[in-house]
Amino acid sequence: MPEHDLTGRVAIVTGGNQGIGRAIAHDYADHGADVVIASRTLSTAEAVAEEVRARGRKALAISTDVASNAEVVRMVQQTMDTFGRVDILVNNAGGSHGRTYNRGALLEITEEDWDNSMAVNLKSVWLCSRAVAPIMQRQGRGAILNIGSVSAQIQHGTRVGFAVYSAAKVGVNNLTYSMAAEWGPTIRVNGILPGFIETPRVTPTRSEEGNAVRTRAIALGRFGASEELAKAATFLVSDEAGYISGTIIEVHGGYKSSLPPLEAVH
Ligand SMILES: NC(=O)c1ccc[n+]([C@@H]2O[C@H](COP(=O)([O-])OP(=O)(O)OC[C@H]3O[C@@H](n4cnc5c(N)ncnc54)[C@H](OP(=O)(O)O)[C@@H]3O)[C@@H](O)[C@H]2O)c1
Repeated sequence: MPEHDLTGRVAIVTGGNQGIGRAIAHDYADHGADVVIASRTLSTAEAVAEEVRARGRKALAISTDVASNAEVVRMVQQTMDTFGRVDILVNNAGGSHGRTYNRGALLEITEEDWDNSMAVNLKSVWLCSRAVAPIMQRQGRGAILNIGSVSAQIQHGTRVGFAVYSAAKVGVNNLTYSMAAEWGPTIRVNGILPGFIETPRVTPTRSEEGNAVRTRAIALGRFGASEELAKAATFLVSDEAGYISGTIIEVHGGYKSSLPPLEAVH
């Protein structure tokens, strides 16, 4: 049997339409899984679904706002109607700033920014996980993977503009532990904290000056590729990680030093 064989498994990847989620969808397909891509933009989700099909696996694109319980429930129902099972959930959708919220200093952001960032980055993890957990329990097996951030670590989360995002991602870490405890032994729940990963949306928001500061703080001297992150995501949901649950691994190239406040170097 090839390593990390996911043949016959159905994986939902939220935010799988680009960046890290897209790389995870590709890698899961390469290891034999059928993949559901759930994001608000249907056209890009369809494009990734097509890429999964080109790799020989089945795929389904579903327009979903993971911050809405009704949409999450509908997305999981559509997955069940199509594939009849859910083996893997990757809670990947999120980000430090988005369509419905801004990133900013604590005295600048609005209540709406706070609520929307928390909804997309934290509440969504609970909504999607609780929608699939009973299915996985009935199946007798399941794996949930939460994509957090190094921003959840105190020394990195203190950068100006990242307070709400970091607080939400700290919550994701705790949810990972709680879900692993409540849903074991049937469901394994783990997390990944990415460091600075090259993605089409995030990379252009980082200035050259900021990048130089960040790169100096990374032991491997470079940003990571989404494909490198995806390798860890495949391992954690595979049978080779069968005794790993309630664990959060860091994929950041040795990014350990504390960054100076990045007020001027976004
Ligand atoms: N890139 C990095 O350096 C980095 C570092 C640390 C952590 N992370 C984390 O890794 C994850 C992926 O990051 P990324 O850089 O790949 O981000 P990205 O390129 O912005 O992709 C995130 C995807 O999530 C989807 N999304 C956002 N809000 C959503 C919602 N309410 N419902 C459904 N889908 C939604 C977006 O698609 P739609 O707009 O079409 O919905 C988008 O395609 C995030 O959780 C992020 O916090 C990334």
